[in-house]
Amino acid sequence: MKMRSFGKLGIQGSAFGLGCMRFPMKKVDGKDVVDEENAVKIIRTAIDGGVTYLDTAYVYLGQQSESVVGRALQDGYREKVTIATKLPTWMVEKEEDMQRFFDEELERLQTDHIDFYLVHSLNKERWPKIKALGVCRFLDRLKKEGKIRYACFSFHDDYEAFETILNDYDWDMVQIQYNYMDVENQAGTKGLELAGKKGIPVVIMEGLLGGRLAVAPDNVQALYDAFPVKRSPVEWAFRWLCNHPQVATVLSGVTTPDQVRDNLRIFDSVEPGCMSQEELDLIDRVRDAYNSRIKVGCTGCAYCMPCPQGVDIPGAFSAWNNASLYSGLKKGDAGYAKLAGAGNSPTNCVACGACEAACPQHINIIEQLKCVTRDLA
Ligand SMILES: NC(=O)c1ccc[n+]([C@@H]2O[C@H](COP(=O)([O-])OP(=O)(O)OC[C@H]3O[C@@H](n4cnc5c(N)ncnc54)[C@H](OP(=O)(O)O)[C@@H]3O)[C@@H](O)[C@H]2O)c1
Repeated sequence: MKMRSFGKLGIQGSAFGLGCMRFPMKKVDGKDVVDEENAVKIIRTAIDGGVTYLDTAYVYLGQQSESVVGRALQDGYREKVTIATKLPTWMVEKEEDMQRFFDEELERLQTDHIDFYLVHSLNKERWPKIKALGVCRFLDRLKKEGKIRYACFSFHDDYEAFETILNDYDWDMVQIQYNYMDVENQAGTKGLELAGKKGIPVVIMEGLLGGRLAVAPDNVQALYDAFPVKRSPVEWAFRWLCNHPQVATVLSGVTTPDQVRDNLRIFDSVEPGCMSQEELDLIDRVRDAYNSRIKVGCTGCAYCMPCPQGVDIPGAFSAWNNASLYSGLKKGDAGYAKLAGAGNSPTNCVACGACEAACPQHINIIEQLKCVTRDLA
């Protein structure tokens, strides 16, 4: 296992960090519960293979993840790893709630301290709210008391929000969604570089876009097949991430012991600067090949919103593009079903045209919404 630098913290961690959000599940009395035997096997196989960083959260797996991790870390395993877990930002209503959640997390994890404590899933709305509730004071105090080693946040929003939050507190680490398709999305490459300039280590989530980059569509696979060095799509994705020196750890949520073993193998040979120019060019072509499957050039600016009929227009186009890029268009698509379930279905459209008048991309929204329904409903 390659070890990597955590920037200004002056410590090292394993290149592969185990994401504890995707363990196998089973049904017990009609309820979804973690298949603990297999989850513990996955966690211990990862640690025995050199993983030193585990990422969990209060809310993962119906709030079962932390307890399963806590049990897996008995028998001497706790001492071999650093634990990252998260304050459920959106569940905090008053300052005292933060301590209550934290104490519960220590108990579930069966530990007396958390190494990396993250304010979970910050964005431009949540940051001012949780800040006003005293989260900076709370993190400072936990550090002083030795209850946490590092104060951190995870992030889902755009670059501008990232820059604001990053510059608003003395953060020890940040966790961002990043992969070769998200270079201009979320915090993006600009965010990664900004954190790097400040010496703040960056932990990566969704390096495979939640698994969507693990299986290449035909036009992408053809590019991989034509390249002289043969690697799986998973290996290319992780290799590309580890090429960046600002990246401290790449989280991977795994669902089987085989995936753990595959990732242990991959992260044994990747380090900053490991990719040649030819390999970087290949990934640029892979990105172009994915993007050539985009259905509609919606940028998600939401100038078209709110729709008087409640249609989530950017959401519908995003579901259509995502389905086309990564999973192939198919009826009953989950992204589309989510919109329909929330009452924001494209079928609500009455062709009033208010959206088309507002769209800076001049998309013929009324016609395109019909195509979304045709392809995905
Ligand atoms: N803080 C936040 O807001 C936030 C948000 C998202 C994630 N996270 C954290 O980040 C971690 C990583 O994110 P992620 O789980 O979305 O990571 P990811 O690496 O993008 O996707 C994980 C999925 O990739 C597939 N996979 C992994 N290794 C593979 C292999 N060797 N071969 C084939 N497929 C493989 C599996 O898909 P299949 O199950 O389909 O096989 C797995 O479920 C999470 O587990 C969680 O701890 C945090």
